[in-house]
Amino acid sequence: MAFNKRVKIKNLLTEDFLNKEVSAMGWVRTKRSNKNVSFIALNDGSTIKNFQVVADPNQIDDEILKKCNTGACIKVRGKVVASQGAGQQAELLASGIEILGEADPEKYPLQPKKHSLEFLREIAHLRVRTNTFGAVFRVRHALAYAVHKYFNDKGFFYIHTPIITASDAEGAGETFKVTTFDLKNPPLDEKGNIDFKQDFFERETNLTVSGQLEGELAAMGLADIYTFGPTFRAENSNTTRHLAEFWMIEPEMAFYDAEDNQDLAEDFLKYVINYALENCMDDLEFLNKRAEDEESTKKADQRAEMGLLDRLKFVVDNKFERLSYTEAIDILRNSNPNKKKKFQYLIESWGADLQSEHERYLVEKHFKKPVILTDYPKEIKAFYMRQNDDGKTVAAMDILFPGIGEIVGGSQREERLDKLTQRMEEMDIPTEEMWWYLDTRKFGSTPHAGFGLGFERLVLFVTGMGNIRDVIAFPRTPGNAEF
Ligand code: 4AD
Ligand code: MG
Repeated sequence: MAFNKRVKIKNLLTEDFLNKEVSAMGWVRTKRSNKNVSFIALNDGSTIKNFQVVADPNQIDDEILKKCNTGACIKVRGKVVASQGAGQQAELLASGIEILGEADPEKYPLQPKKHSLEFLREIAHLRVRTNTFGAVFRVRHALAYAVHKYFNDKGFFYIHTPIITASDAEGAGETFKVTTFDLKNPPLDEKGNIDFKQDFFERETNLTVSGQLEGELAAMGLADIYTFGPTFRAENSNTTRHLAEFWMIEPEMAFYDAEDNQDLAEDFLKYVINYALENCMDDLEFLNKRAEDEESTKKADQRAEMGLLDRLKFVVDNKFERLSYTEAIDILRNSNPNKKKKFQYLIESWGADLQSEHERYLVEKHFKKPVILTDYPKEIKAFYMRQNDDGKTVAAMDILFPGIGEIVGGSQREERLDKLTQRMEEMDIPTEEMWWYLDTRKFGSTPHAGFGLGFERLVLFVTGMGNIRDVIAFPRTPGNAEF
């Protein structure tokens, strides 16, 4: 018989297996024993719910039972019966238990007690075995699936853009270099600079900060495309919202203007959040409770106004507020925290870049709902954004979410060759090296638009976790690349 003829616990909890003989496998969460019987709470990752194994010491060898402690991995054969105890419908009456992998209770770092999230980050190789992280990663999976489903259903094509590139799409210069040079002894040119012509790619390369530029090329033939891949930013931001390696979803659409882009982004966000509500309720209820417990440790004025589930439903059911950067600056300039000098960065004049304190004020205090901010000053946005007729602003949009701040950044793109070239020159973007990008504006150019959704920021929002390091399995942040 095949080893893995197991039934997942998720399925064992349905009525289909009642009174049937099955094999279950999983990790022991806890064991309670008295003289007559042992109760083992088994979890196999398929659901947040544990399955209760009932082991009779007359049936199961004492040596085996002793090894069924927290963390051990076991295989249990037995009959599924209606449960006598409260809290579960069914349980497994063990006729045989096999130890697949022992866990020495003296040494196993994960105990049934509550560990702090900080501690669990240090044992990220084991934290997936906790309720919290099991829930987070199941929800993360469902969201990733919903992303693909949304775009597939709309006739978008998934494009895999390169991870190694020679360009810095966002122009922020925060790239990780890719080279095969011996760092102690790189070849130099006549001027004494590192001679990248002798490097693997015969040019300077880096890990991508965005798949957008290549996504635009694809949209100029396939019309509606999206990317969903890893992106890398060497910004030294030690915040609860930044990763050095994160996943981004970037749709790019030909024949879209700024308003079409906003409509799509809002519809897309609502769809994926609603997908989680419809498919992950067990996990979300657990995370809702977890967030509630965490909130209750905060001071009253710092608590979120809504619980996690209410917040998710609220976002799905309400229209996002749309306003221009210029209108937002007026609101911020006249806001209480600005007048009372409570903002760390005071808003004095038009042109100021918005910090997350400003974004969160607009979303959490002023509008109390997601906000789509549009038409930013061109000076604070990337070269590829379409220039508006006022000569000052570009057709940018940022979507701001409660508790998160910026979750989406996007724009209508500059499709006019002369305007684009001029802007690139102004911003010192090398036009010769970007000949391929400019070619799309020379040949068959058309209005087009797109945006980027930071996947971990979405998972952060949907799971109600407080730190982005807790929604990706193995986070990469400054000083941290363990595991
Ligand atoms: O606003 P950004 O920089 O936009 C772009 O990269 C565009 N090329 C997108 C496009 O138009 N196709 O990044 C997009 C989103 C942000 O709104 C944020 O959610 C996320 O990516 N993001 C990060 N997430 C985690 N850690 C970081 N360091 C992030 N930087 C950006
Ligand atoms: Mg941005």
